Amino acid sequence: MICLKSRREIGMMRHAASKLKLVFQELLKKVQVGLTTYDLDEIAVKLIHKQGAEATFKGYRGYPASICTSLNCEVVHGIPSKKRKLIDGDLLSVDIGLTDEGYIADAARTVMVGRKNEDILKLIEVTKKSLFIAMSVMRPGKRVGDIGAAVQKHVESNGFSVIRDFVGHGVGRALHEDPQVPNYGKEGRGAKLEVGMVIAIEPMVAAGSWEVEMLENKWTVVTRDRKMAAHYEDTIAITEEETENLTGPQEFNGLD
Ligand code: MF3
Ligand code: CO
Repeated sequence: MICLKSRREIGMMRHAASKLKLVFQELLKKVQVGLTTYDLDEIAVKLIHKQGAEATFKGYRGYPASICTSLNCEVVHGIPSKKRKLIDGDLLSVDIGLTDEGYIADAARTVMVGRKNEDILKLIEVTKKSLFIAMSVMRPGKRVGDIGAAVQKHVESNGFSVIRDFVGHGVGRALHEDPQVPNYGKEGRGAKLEVGMVIAIEPMVAAGSWEVEMLENKWTVVTRDRKMAAHYEDTIAITEEETENLTGPQEFNGLD
């Protein structure tokens, strides 16, 4: 069942999202070689609490940390660890859910740690841009399949592949609401988009094959071929007037 949000509820979600934006701004400034992914978790929790909000992921279905930090071939749900220091050349995806007054904002960013590499920057840029292209098709009357088709087209035309086993989702008072939103698909298929829908669009893009497997910790998803993967996510609201990116910029603005 798709839960449509009122104008007031979207206002609440915009407020939660503005807090999450601040958290990302501060956290990403701190990313540097030598910090552990556990340090990032701790910094994020402090920033979230400073905003008077909660870390949504903590304890969600038994998830053991507050944020996800996925490195290199890890696609999503990398668990922060005291044993894993960031090293030069790491590809780091950070995924954060923030709950504020019962409403959730969900977003992810992927960055390079230390030295930059052109090929990896391209992977990040294509992933990010696919999210904005997807957002541009999200109007009332369009369908969930239009979103997936838009992501898939941009990703595959750049020689990368779209992860099939994990999807975007409705978001609101619950982290995962209907509809499920695959990052691949066919135009004109699936549920109709309507005013009041709030959807977390989250392209997960692999440099090699889209096939994945689960690590022994039962959370962390890695590419089977162990090639790099990137992840971008924003919480996006369809209102009468516009399609609003609550957790990020309204348009693709390159890699900042
Ligand atoms: N953004 C991810 C998602 O929507 C992160 C969930 S992590 C979990 O699925 F721990 F909360 F499951
Ligand atoms: Co999500």
